[in-house]
Amino acid sequence: MTLPPEGRTQLTPDMSICRVLNGMWQVSGAHGAIDPSAAIASMLEHQRAGFTTWDLADHYGPAEDFIGQFRRELSSTQGRESLASIQAFTKWVPRPGPMTRQLVEQNVDLSLRRMDVPALDLLQFHWWDYGDARYLDALEHLSALGDEGKIRHLGLTNFDTEHLKLVVERGIKIVSNQVQFSLIDRRPERGMIQFCREHDIQLLAYGTVCGGLLTSKYLGQPEPSRRELTTASLGKYKQMVDAWGGWELFQELLNALQDIAAEKRVSIANVAVKYVLDRPAVAGAILGVRLGASDHLADNARAFDVTLESEDYDRLEAVLGRATDLYQIIGDCGDEYRR
Ligand SMILES: NC(=O)c1ccc[n+]([C@@H]2O[C@H](COP(=O)([O-])OP(=O)(O)OC[C@H]3O[C@@H](n4cnc5c(N)ncnc54)[C@H](OP(=O)(O)O)[C@@H]3O)[C@@H](O)[C@H]2O)c1
Repeated sequence: MTLPPEGRTQLTPDMSICRVLNGMWQVSGAHGAIDPSAAIASMLEHQRAGFTTWDLADHYGPAEDFIGQFRRELSSTQGRESLASIQAFTKWVPRPGPMTRQLVEQNVDLSLRRMDVPALDLLQFHWWDYGDARYLDALEHLSALGDEGKIRHLGLTNFDTEHLKLVVERGIKIVSNQVQFSLIDRRPERGMIQFCREHDIQLLAYGTVCGGLLTSKYLGQPEPSRRELTTASLGKYKQMVDAWGGWELFQELLNALQDIAAEKRVSIANVAVKYVLDRPAVAGAILGVRLGASDHLADNARAFDVTLESEDYDRLEAVLGRATDLYQIIGDCGDEYRR
């Protein structure tokens, strides 16, 4: 399997990424058991197939340690130069409180050690409470650590447009914001995309296939019970679907996607992913990978084969136009984390 050239983009002038990123929340334990050696073998397989970009976090169980082990195995089999082909994006999700230089640096150093990297390719920062403005202190320290070579690029996750603007106005260079973005959750369209375009910030989208709900597996299926939602992401996005319009309308969306997918000889997931990849300012879609437990590599490579035409958008809009506007009931990007 080889990804086409449009499978990659420059996140920054010095960093090319795969536009379908491998999401590692799925190894945290909240999505079923993961066998470490099978997980590392699967990481090597993703890398070979061209899926070279990883999204993780300090709190995704062993995810940072897996990156360290994966790098050591790649280096020992293919030489140290091969490490330059990996992009590993972690997050720092601190509890609000005093953000001293020492605290910030200790956490960055911990990620460096766990991931076994000389510098973090991208550190994405999350903040739980805008009432506590010390996120700006943290970001200034992170920015200084970037100048000192410990962080190559600084990004955010789940920041809303208003606070992203405050960070930019403070003169802190942000390259990306990671937000929920899918056919169900189109909140980034409300202001985030435009702001990002004006300030050369790229979006990394998650929830693009709603934990697997936006795939053929759920087409024509009765509404799953809570017990049947066996991963943390299925639970999370089922709540979004409920708020968006419910299972009946969701089935109409799956049917519209299936019609489009059948015409293009691709999968429902491919259409859902390409819809988001085609939105302005979106650099990539992060798809969760249950490493060693399930595998959608070959199918996800086909997202780049999809070209959506105006009649496809019309078909989707005929369903989407009847859904509840999540911006009205939840707020801007990430507000669900700060209620
Ligand atoms: N910043 C944040 O707050 C935040 C929040 C959530 C997620 N994320 C990031 O985004 C990543 C993605 O997580 P997510 O929760 O949004 O999950 P997701 O990517 O929407 O769903 C992942 C699941 O979808 C299924 N799937 C993927 N491709 C498929 C295909 N082609 N056909 C059929 N099924 C397919 C797989 O289910 P099976 O394994 O069951 O087959 C997979 O485990 C996370 O790992 C994390 O890196 C970030």
